Amino acid sequence: MQTDFLNPPIPHAIAAASHPAAPGYYRQLLEQPGIHYCPELRMWIAAHASDIMEIFNSPACAVRPPAEMVPAALGSGSTAQIFQQLIRMNEGQTHATGKRILQDCLQQLDGQRVQQTTEQVAHRLAAALAETQTPPASHPAQYKLSATAMNQLVRDLPLYVVAELSGCPEYLIPEIRSHIAAFVHALSKPGDAVAIAAANQAAQALLHTFTQLAESELAADSLLAQIHLKARKSGGMPAEAIIANCIGLLSQTYEASRGLLQASLMYSTHYPAVFLQVLQQPDLINDWVAEVCRLHSPVQNTRRYVTTATHIGNTYLPQDAVVLLLLAAANIDTAIHEQACEFRLQRPQRTLYSFGYGRHACPGQQLACQITATATRLAGTWSLALDQWQVSYENSANGRLPVWTHTKETA
Ligand code: HEM
Repeated sequence: MQTDFLNPPIPHAIAAASHPAAPGYYRQLLEQPGIHYCPELRMWIAAHASDIMEIFNSPACAVRPPAEMVPAALGSGSTAQIFQQLIRMNEGQTHATGKRILQDCLQQLDGQRVQQTTEQVAHRLAAALAETQTPPASHPAQYKLSATAMNQLVRDLPLYVVAELSGCPEYLIPEIRSHIAAFVHALSKPGDAVAIAAANQAAQALLHTFTQLAESELAADSLLAQIHLKARKSGGMPAEAIIANCIGLLSQTYEASRGLLQASLMYSTHYPAVFLQVLQQPDLINDWVAEVCRLHSPVQNTRRYVTTATHIGNTYLPQDAVVLLLLAAANIDTAIHEQACEFRLQRPQRTLYSFGYGRHACPGQQLACQITATATRLAGTWSLALDQWQVSYENSANGRLPVWTHTKETA
């Protein structure tokens, strides 16, 4: 594919995830029919929504290659021990039992509690990071935050909220966050021995903390208490799998939710008039978050491994083929959305591929969107120079993770 018009050019579909010009690249891919093979990545690339749905629904396409359930490069330490238990990385009965439990518990979360927890955490973090606090009586929460402070706030906020909802005591959460960061970092760098060593230490600490929490007096309505209770009742999940998947909820939250919140705030500078309308009419915030997510998907792609040779559309995929599913491209597929690259607050039938689909679909979608909606409305009232900050993207194989820099900080 010709990409020299993009500066710098995008060498392949994985590099698109953190490239500013990704939408143009995906649009070009969508002009070609079907799935194609990328010799550089040694992967098949699926961009069309119809192909991606077929792959998600196919029993021949699994989340891990059966011969390598844990990436060999992760070794056999605590990182691998958690990884192999995650429902995200399993198929069959192991996946189905755990999925049902996590899904039920996440669905039962009370929306008001999520909103209150998000507001409290946002105030706490903003107060600690703010350059100045100007709380006039009419505006009790006017914080002035630098680009660096906001990067830290959006990075921490979703994880802190999910940790609090899980029942983690407040004083432990900063430490849990840094362990989750080390764990997630190593998963995206399977060849990096230093990252894996750090992740193993972090994973060991997480296993210890979450085992102790399970043995402590957890609040009955906390996510962890609910998960342990349901898992014990169902009987189909070993203790170590329950602990690993409780940690998994936080690792799944960490980067993607941060990416969505940051995009939501970024878009307020792209569409200021629409954003003002959203601030004035709170019932529009869910549409806002969904449309931002569609156009700036925090998870850009995911992978499937072909366990038995199969056809997707007209393309034959041999056994052991690896397919990269471009969720962000499917979001702007014109077969699904009219004027697919335009921001339209109220689309009659919006379909989001960012959270996956089918048996592995994200059970945290509603929670992630609620946290983003609440935090966006709140931060919309703060004193942020968002329109003066430059945006770059963190290097990532599948996340679209903006980083703000104040123009003075780049000089
Ligand atoms: C904006 C935020 C988020 C995005 C874009 C996102 C996206 C995704 C995607 C695309 C998948 C499926 C991957 C695949 O099929 O290959 C997934 C799975 C998953 N997500 Fe999320 N996620 C987000 C937030 C969360 C949160 C907040 C939680 C939990 C609190 C969560 C928990 C999970 C779990 C447990 C799975 C594995 C499900 C399974 O394999 O059946 N996610 N997520």
